[in-house]
Amino acid sequence: MDVFKEAVWIDPELPHSKDERQPASVLRRSFTVSPAEKTGDPARLFITCHGLYEAKINGSRVGDFILAPGCDNYKKRLQYQVYDVSELLRTGENLIEVTLGDGWYRGNVGIDGICNYYGNDLALLCRLALGDRTVLVSDESWEASQSGPVRLNDLQKGEEYDARMETPEDWHGVTLREWSRDILVGPEGCVPVIEQERFEGRLIKTPNGETVIDFGQNLAGYVEMKLDASEGQKITLWHGETLDENGNFTQKNFDPGDRNKNGGIPQRIDYICRDGLNTYKPHFAIFGFRYAKIETDADLSGAEFTSVAVYSRMPQTGFFECGNSDVNRLFENALWSMRSNFCDIPTDCPTRERAGWTGDAGVFAPTGLMLADCAPVLRKWLAECRIEQREDGLVENIAPVNNSGSMISNMLQGAAGWGDACVIVPWEIYSATGDTSVLEENYGMMTGWLGFCLDRASKTRIKNRKNPYRKYLVDHGFHFGEWCEPDVNNMQTMKQNMTNGAPEVATAYLHRSADLLSRIAGVLGKDKDAEKYAEIAESSKQAYRYTCTCKGKIDSKRQAEYVRPIAFGLLDGDEVKEAADTLNELVTENGYHLNTGFLATPFLLPVLAENGHADTAYRLLLQEDRPGWLYSVKKGATTIWETWDGIDDDGKPTASLNHYSYGAVAGWCISGICGINAGAEGIVIRPFPNKELKFADAALDSRFGRIESGWKYENGKLSFDILVPEGASAVLMLPGREAETIGPGSHHYEE
Ligand code: BGC
Repeated sequence: MDVFKEAVWIDPELPHSKDERQPASVLRRSFTVSPAEKTGDPARLFITCHGLYEAKINGSRVGDFILAPGCDNYKKRLQYQVYDVSELLRTGENLIEVTLGDGWYRGNVGIDGICNYYGNDLALLCRLALGDRTVLVSDESWEASQSGPVRLNDLQKGEEYDARMETPEDWHGVTLREWSRDILVGPEGCVPVIEQERFEGRLIKTPNGETVIDFGQNLAGYVEMKLDASEGQKITLWHGETLDENGNFTQKNFDPGDRNKNGGIPQRIDYICRDGLNTYKPHFAIFGFRYAKIETDADLSGAEFTSVAVYSRMPQTGFFECGNSDVNRLFENALWSMRSNFCDIPTDCPTRERAGWTGDAGVFAPTGLMLADCAPVLRKWLAECRIEQREDGLVENIAPVNNSGSMISNMLQGAAGWGDACVIVPWEIYSATGDTSVLEENYGMMTGWLGFCLDRASKTRIKNRKNPYRKYLVDHGFHFGEWCEPDVNNMQTMKQNMTNGAPEVATAYLHRSADLLSRIAGVLGKDKDAEKYAEIAESSKQAYRYTCTCKGKIDSKRQAEYVRPIAFGLLDGDEVKEAADTLNELVTENGYHLNTGFLATPFLLPVLAENGHADTAYRLLLQEDRPGWLYSVKKGATTIWETWDGIDDDGKPTASLNHYSYGAVAGWCISGICGINAGAEGIVIRPFPNKELKFADAALDSRFGRIESGWKYENGKLSFDILVPEGASAVLMLPGREAETIGPGSHHYEE
């Protein structure tokens, strides 16, 4: 059904050069509601746009969706929202006003900071209905103005707002446009991005005399400010994640003043005051920040500054607390990096690239699905991955794509471990929710990707021609490889991988995806496919073993090269124990420091703990030096960093300080420390108690209901408390005991 019926796309702007940034446009129309009309039936506004919209009826904001209609590949998919606006309408004269901003549609986006990615037009499509009756639609009867208060708006650059212009003038007509409606997706296609937690700011002076507000928590969102001022006074805010090594404000860690970004990522607000009370928060921009540097000629003595976290609605479902406050903070930090990076799609960071990187989502999805009810966000993002998939099955590294499309950026696409997220994420959603429709929906994408990977494998390099498993050895194509290993130069790895491929990583991922796909086909009752993918999984396993091991024996100094084959089932029988023991030795020799990178780190602690080395897993978890998880906590981090040395010993920051990938360790707090696992195999509880933590408690609101598991050491005794939800059972594996199946209710055990 076309909910927009006779509505027409309307473009509010007058002709302009596409290189000139435009102010936000205000559109308005008045309409009358008779007393007879305003009875009973709910009033609903159906609305979407090219750009971002903020709608008001009679001066009140419609709904709470920030950055609506959300982030899409707008050429192929466009979300619309439906709001119940019954409360906002009155009988008699009414006024609807809609402001349109640039957003992802035509503002700076992605790694290259490209403008006008989808076009240069802005346009509105809307219909207001009382029951089934149309009250108004977007059409030629609307007026538009570019003299509203939002003078510039951009997700990366920020916003310029002139409070003296809140009553726009220069109204003119709109232009009708004929954009496609076949790509419209209703509210079931996404969940709203909304305002969430708030933090009061504290004014500080930095050594070089800057006035900075510290909100105490790194997050994605904006600053709401309230102050008395005189007309024409100016306030400028710059948003940053940290102070530098001298205690001064900085943005250098995420904004190197970049090449392509048309002036970088200043995350800046320029606000011009009206006389009297000024209250403001940005309309079309959110930023990654904990600190805001402020420059103003206004008196700040009575001013209030509050930071507001903005992210997708996704109630928390995973909870954890233990006797070590640093580990508790680490868990919180992972939650905050998740919140900061779920803005309609999962992104890598809320500052520099703000892009839907597949690898990041694949690495974090199992943890994310424990921490919060984020399946709808991930599912919407998978729709973007499907849209972007190329004809040969290649899955882009970022969805929606927002790179320059240059030869180099084209060459980098389809990386192993990144593209594989198209299989991993649906599988993880299914495991967490039990909903098979996510597997159906993405089946074509997954099999297409596998086809692409197999084709890539078939192009063996000359040196591997004699390899009996060469058809399943992936020694071609660009791959990031393990990526971001602490003591390895990323750029060198990248160069090396361009010439030699990354057979260890890429072949392991061919196996991993084929294995998952075989299970997925099984769940969907596609038995022939299940068999076919099981065979591919087996052949790629043999290819891996032949090339990367000596009959199952690994010879490497890299921890990742033990973690991966153990985690992915590439070793058999005693080989697993042998590899885990060697991994344990490597970690020990490295002074209990990890040297895994982006892909293997989430598996490191479970692989150690489940193979007899829980003590080493804990020594890694509790490591306060870098590389180690508690280093950042000791440095005062409130989110997870992109690199282990995000702030070095001298306090110098580098790279993003808000990347969730290493936060996957929060998943292990629930599934390892407290042992709660609730997936495709049902509930398994396998805790790994540790004296140093004293106690640990976790709860998971799973698809089976609430599961709780905790343990404590008290008076030299270890005890466990477990709660199994009504109507469920769990396999319980306590240390030193036989596995047993337990029923619903509370269970207490003492050693
Ligand atoms: C991003 C990552 C991403 C990576 C690809 C980075 O610039 O921030 O998180 O996965 O590039 O290697």
